[in-house]
Amino acid sequence: MNTIRIAIFASGTGTNADAISTHFKNHPKIEVALVVTSKHDAGVIKVAEKHGVDYIVLQKQDFQDENLVMEVLEGYEINYCVLAGWLLLIPTYLVKAFEGKMLNIHPALLPKFGGKGMYGKHVHEAVKETGESESGITIHQVNEDFDKGEIIAQIKVKILPDDSADEIERKVRTLELAHYADEIEKLIEAQTIFL
Ligand code: GRF
Repeated sequence: MNTIRIAIFASGTGTNADAISTHFKNHPKIEVALVVTSKHDAGVIKVAEKHGVDYIVLQKQDFQDENLVMEVLEGYEINYCVLAGWLLLIPTYLVKAFEGKMLNIHPALLPKFGGKGMYGKHVHEAVKETGESESGITIHQVNEDFDKGEIIAQIKVKILPDDSADEIERKVRTLELAHYADEIEKLIEAQTIFL
């Protein structure tokens, strides 16, 4: 059968996109086929270039045009979408088109510290302020609400009382880069019969 083709949706520095692209580089059955970004100057563009992966800039207003977006994804024969630093709400038509095949990573243990506005430093500062003894990552399916889809995996890390928000972020990032690609691979393997 043909390879399974992933689109990474990312608009940040792209460290997760880098780890995912590296993970699947020589994979016999799964490949990163496209990077979708909403910003012309996103760091992830350099990451896509480094890995020789095509990228496309689709901005907020472009997502109102279902035909445009679906034509791009169908043109690249995308089977799975993975969000890695994506701040726009995913429209209903896209959630439906990739039901069960669209993942996001959140840098905290959902359902705590999720929802609109909970991204980047805001998350780790909130974790620090509440005096949590642990944080971690949540990998979840994407639905029409921010950070509310079915949870696929959570990996935890201990927070020490003296850890700053920056230190919490560093610990969580280490987990992201170590685990996201593995979890993506596990989900695809579980859902696919490779012949
Ligand atoms: C990560 O912390 C991820 O959990 C969140 O957005 C950030 C993206 O960082 N969803 P990067 O662009 O992959 O470096």
